[in-house]
Amino acid sequence: MSLTQTSAWQNLAALAVAFRKKTLVELFDADPGRATRFAAEACGVYLDYSKQRIDAEVLAALQRLAQQQDLSGRVAAMMSGERINPTEHRAVLHTALRAPKGYGKVVVDGQDVNVNVHRVLDRMAEFASRVRDGRHRSATGELFSHVVNIGIGGSDLGPRMVNEALIDFCDGPRTHYVANVDGAQLAAVLADLEPASTLFIVTSKTFTTLETMANAGAARRWLVRALGESAVSQHFIAVSTNAAEVRRFGIDPARMFEFWDWVGGRYSVWSAVGLSLMLALGPQRFREWLDGAHAMDRHFCETVPASNLPVLMALLAVWNRNFLDSPTQVVAPYAQNLEHFVHWLQQLEMESNGKRVHRDGSPLAVSTTPALWGDVGTNGQHAFFQMLHQGSDVHPVDFILPVRATHPWPEQQQMLIANCLAQSAALMRGKSADEVRAELSVKLSGSELEQAIPHRVFPGNRPSSTLLVQRLDPYHLGALMALYEHRTFVLSLLWDINAFDQWGVELGKSLAQTVLKAMNGEEVLLDASTRELLNKSLTY
Ligand code: F6P
Repeated sequence: MSLTQTSAWQNLAALAVAFRKKTLVELFDADPGRATRFAAEACGVYLDYSKQRIDAEVLAALQRLAQQQDLSGRVAAMMSGERINPTEHRAVLHTALRAPKGYGKVVVDGQDVNVNVHRVLDRMAEFASRVRDGRHRSATGELFSHVVNIGIGGSDLGPRMVNEALIDFCDGPRTHYVANVDGAQLAAVLADLEPASTLFIVTSKTFTTLETMANAGAARRWLVRALGESAVSQHFIAVSTNAAEVRRFGIDPARMFEFWDWVGGRYSVWSAVGLSLMLALGPQRFREWLDGAHAMDRHFCETVPASNLPVLMALLAVWNRNFLDSPTQVVAPYAQNLEHFVHWLQQLEMESNGKRVHRDGSPLAVSTTPALWGDVGTNGQHAFFQMLHQGSDVHPVDFILPVRATHPWPEQQQMLIANCLAQSAALMRGKSADEVRAELSVKLSGSELEQAIPHRVFPGNRPSSTLLVQRLDPYHLGALMALYEHRTFVLSLLWDINAFDQWGVELGKSLAQTVLKAMNGEEVLLDASTRELLNKSLTY
């Protein structure tokens, strides 16, 4: 039976037809308790979803969809180490990476997951402490004052984002991130660094990714030119699941921090992929960050769906996407240090749920994840909020607002908060033609007034959620990240898709190899456009 033929889905479709006639202003007028009724809180994160286009009946119907899709069973399967990634036949246990020592017992491939996780965490902490306190120095005996993480996708976006978000809590070596195969990024980073004080972390689950291996090779040559081949072992660390490829690259596996196949790339920041963070933050704050995520894991596993933040956010996302036909999802963190949060979230959500077939391979009859985009506030207000307020389409917004500032200008934090709350209010209530007329009639009249009005009307009734985060510190960032990871997982089970593979990245990778062969003069088959572009690019 197709998903659209299930009773929960059909009930929601029927409700949506009726619901389209209701506006948020009417819903608030009819229910003075709405603002607190449609809110939930966990781990220092407060979710206000009262400005979403729902009522108690819609919420109940959405919860029935979650029940129909076996929410509790699928969560239990993931946490128990079942191989819930069917196309790669792997377990999915990123939650185990942040569980305290001795918490729970899950065995995968005959190994106690918690024991292995903490063995690596202890090694990371020992190594980070030695680098931070100077016991582990460079080939020339200098302190490692700079760390360069070379990786891409999940081997870059998470560490980069967390480092940026928690910059005020970093007191270790300065950390830099190189991802793009465009040499401009590596060149810009190395331009400011000295080989003698630079530690490289080559982070790659497969240790075969083109961009990462190219950048790592260039960095290795940069170091060897300055300090000789013997310096490599002291200055290069590998983070991978693939010891053979690490050795082939020329890094001793003894200088490798491992992680496991049951950790998806976009869910891997909590593993040794986060080594650059352990160096920058130190073991204690790294643990606080893990603890925040673990607290959200427990909330997700132990809280009833009606009060469960990840479940609520996923249900609202399906309601907006599949029943109110929203074309995209906007995320607007009102915190400059969350400038890379949307980039991290884009891979998490769109590489997980950008799928078109069910877990069993049958085609989907519904849309899956919309394009997720956004930028920090207040900057977005001066870039794309015009479209959000008066554009032809409705784009739901997640506002994320860390309430307590970590900077010394409280009056500016007040301005930030005021703008964030004002934007969600403006999206919700809009401004009617009558209101515009009343405003403008003091200075305009007649046809001039009538012509001006349509351009100044705000349709309103544009949904948003607001997430208040107590403070942008390790614990609360960990909780916020885990919240969105579980939102992604719940969305995948609502659509019955596999969130944990990414076959869609393979074709482009293999065609790039074909084009590279053509560039090296090999006879390969290329379509006419690519052949023409390649010829042009060689002489343009
Ligand atoms: O984008 C494809 C992908 O495989 C991601 O899933 C992954 O995070 C990234 O490339 C990097 O992969 P690796 O860590 O193996 O270099």
